[in-house]
Amino acid sequence: MEHDALLPSDVKPAAVQEQRTSSASTRASRFSLLHLGAAFVAGIFACALGQYALHCGQQAPGVAAGSGQPGMLAAPWAGSTEVHGFPPVEPTNAVPSMFPSNVGYAGGTPTGAEPAVLATAPAVPIHKSTPNLAQPSVLKEASKSFNMFRSWGNLSPWYSVPRGAFGLDSGPEVPETCRITEAHILHRHGARYPTAWASYGGPANFSGRLHDVADKWNASGDLEFMNEWTYKLGEEILTPFGRQQLYDLGVQMRMRYGFLLKNFTESNTIPVFRTESQDRMLASAMNFAIGFFGWPTDGQYQQSITIEADGFNNTLAPYKTCPNAGDRSKSDRGTVYVEEWAAIYLKDAQARLSAQLHGYDLTIEDTYVLQQMCAYETVALGYSKFCELFTEEEWEGFDYALDLSFWYNSAFGSPVARVQGLGYVQELVARLTHTPIETYNSSTNATLNESPITFPLHDSLYVDATHEVVVLNVLTALNLSSLAANGPLPSDHIPKDRTFRVSQLAPFATNVQFQLLSCSSLPEPQIRIVVNDGAVPLTGVEGCPEEKDGMCPVSTFVAAQKKIIGETDWEYDCYGDWSVPAGSAWNTTTGDAPRW
Ligand SMILES: *[C@@H]1O[C@H](CO)[C@@H](O)[C@H](O)[C@H]1NC(C)=O
Ligand SMILES: *[C@@H]1O[C@H](CO)[C@@H](O)[C@H](O)[C@H]1NC(C)=O
Ligand SMILES: *[C@@H]1O[C@H](CO)[C@@H](O)[C@H](O)[C@H]1NC(C)=O
Ligand SMILES: *[C@@H]1O[C@H](CO)[C@@H](O)[C@H](O)[C@H]1NC(C)=O
Ligand SMILES: *[C@@H]1O[C@H](CO)[C@@H](O)[C@H](O)[C@H]1NC(C)=O
Ligand SMILES: *[C@@H]1O[C@H](CO)[C@@H](O)[C@H](O)[C@H]1NC(C)=O
Ligand SMILES: *[C@@H]1O[C@H](CO)[C@@H](O)[C@H](O)[C@H]1NC(C)=O
Ligand SMILES: *[C@@H]1O[C@H](CO)[C@@H](O)[C@H](O)[C@H]1NC(C)=O
Repeated sequence: MEHDALLPSDVKPAAVQEQRTSSASTRASRFSLLHLGAAFVAGIFACALGQYALHCGQQAPGVAAGSGQPGMLAAPWAGSTEVHGFPPVEPTNAVPSMFPSNVGYAGGTPTGAEPAVLATAPAVPIHKSTPNLAQPSVLKEASKSFNMFRSWGNLSPWYSVPRGAFGLDSGPEVPETCRITEAHILHRHGARYPTAWASYGGPANFSGRLHDVADKWNASGDLEFMNEWTYKLGEEILTPFGRQQLYDLGVQMRMRYGFLLKNFTESNTIPVFRTESQDRMLASAMNFAIGFFGWPTDGQYQQSITIEADGFNNTLAPYKTCPNAGDRSKSDRGTVYVEEWAAIYLKDAQARLSAQLHGYDLTIEDTYVLQQMCAYETVALGYSKFCELFTEEEWEGFDYALDLSFWYNSAFGSPVARVQGLGYVQELVARLTHTPIETYNSSTNATLNESPITFPLHDSLYVDATHEVVVLNVLTALNLSSLAANGPLPSDHIPKDRTFRVSQLAPFATNVQFQLLSCSSLPEPQIRIVVNDGAVPLTGVEGCPEEKDGMCPVSTFVAAQKKIIGETDWEYDCYGDWSVPAGSAWNTTTGDAPRW
């Protein structure tokens, strides 16, 4: 889970360190984790000995690529060491001077008018499919309509949610009598490999443990494939499918909001999009830009790359300057609920699968990892045999486990959620009011926010990239309390008709579209919030009316957000010496820290 990897360094390196020393000292001969450079080098070595690089991906199952001794058969399972090491470090045929990037002769290049499909099409094209990902061919106890890809919480690929998902029968199309004058888009990166560390489950850790005793176990029945299986996933970075998601999102947003670029032409400026330094964040933004602007993007926009690292004020990575968000007694309240829930919904699965794994004690947590493995392998490799192991009900249980995790760690149930969303809300208000931020008293960064070049306030289009935890922080800080209607979420059953679903709010490439509208039927400019193509009611925001498309007068919305800004105390919430009792002895449903 991403939020685990986003914990400050005092937590993470210790855990990673532990992994490294244990694997390096006891298993160096035939096993090392992917993030050890040794595996990478050994992989290349194995390839080199195999003589033709193209065949590197097809070495016989059971050959441990990390062994450095191709041909030496390892135990049935070859560890997380199948690494292909592409691109080679010094390819012998690389002669850039013989491949000029600009040879001229481009032919004609006239441009036409910008698309505005939100306004012009009778029905807005929505996002339903997941090209390049294979569904499992066999499904246990699942209904015809079941789409497994939508029950993976934050590991689901984004899709246009069903109408009414958040309580309004309204999608991204422009409400009647209205036209869009401005859009603010906040999106997540695309599908990635697992993060380096996880507080519950975690594919790399499980694979490592399994491999530690590889000569002691074997699998049969549904699990028989595990005898030959290798752990092929990397860490942290975008997968090819994740890259496509952002490219597609860029294309989609251009089709919808392209007409807003006219404003830039009129004011003789270009847009500024923001992302962060982390590899998958930057790669996501680049793919989005190529989808949105087309290649080459040069001269069409400016990309702000904020620094995501400890100590840097960054509204898109607020946990880097908020110590309480790194204190697990405050920021990781979810794991205990996930554990309780997993013990219930995975009980049968654990019994069923244990019986097919001989010589290894498969725990509930391991069983949960097998579900994670399905999701991660699918979005990285296109297909996973692990997906066939579970029933529809168990997938719904998995989805809900992730709801619990994010509800308590990053959203309405977390005492450090609102404060982490605060910085983005301040920026949103600054943009909506065309007024610079007055006081730098949160995750905002004066160096960037004070400059009208790096942080423009008069644009018609804003695009910001961040993580799912931050998207949830922001939705919480904005007071979208209709999403919290079922809270606090129980860990012994799934509430009916819940509006808080991480697979719909914060999946891979999730996108929040803040639309500003001018409507002939309404006197004032309006704002509404569309999450993954579902309009969210703004009724939790003080003063906003019940409105069928989720619209609220901008002035009312801004006044409420200013009130929220005034009531949220970064210093206290992030640095305060407060504590909360563990588990259900204390709850919040607004993402607020306790005032005691
Ligand atoms: C898995 O995680 C546990 C607990 O954090 C740790 O003790 C163990 O060394 C890890 N094992 C591997 C193989 O990474
Ligand atoms: C603000 O952001 C800039 C650019 O990323 C960075 O150099 C600077 O250190 C940040 N300021 C603070 C106080 O973190
Ligand atoms: C599978 O593992 C079990 C338990 O470790 C062992 O008794 C059995 O002989 C193994 N079977 C094979 C075919 O390796
Ligand atoms: C960084 O954030 C802290 C805490 O809100 C604030 O005191 C400081 O002024 C900020 N620095 C900049 C350059 O924005
Ligand atoms: C963009 O242009 C449209 C049409 O001219 C106008 O209605 C709208 O207010 C402009 N938006 C901004 C943010 O200037
Ligand atoms: C935010 O939500 C809380 C809880 O629903 C409510 O009491 C409060 O009035 C709201 N504040 C604003 C400014 O919208
Ligand atoms: C932070 O600054 C804003 C103005 O930008 C102000 O409304 C708010 O009260 C300040 N918060 C604190 C805790 O001082
Ligand atoms: C917190 O929420 C849980 C789940 O709804 C509930 O069982 C518990 O009683 C609540 N705790 C408090 C102190 O209200």
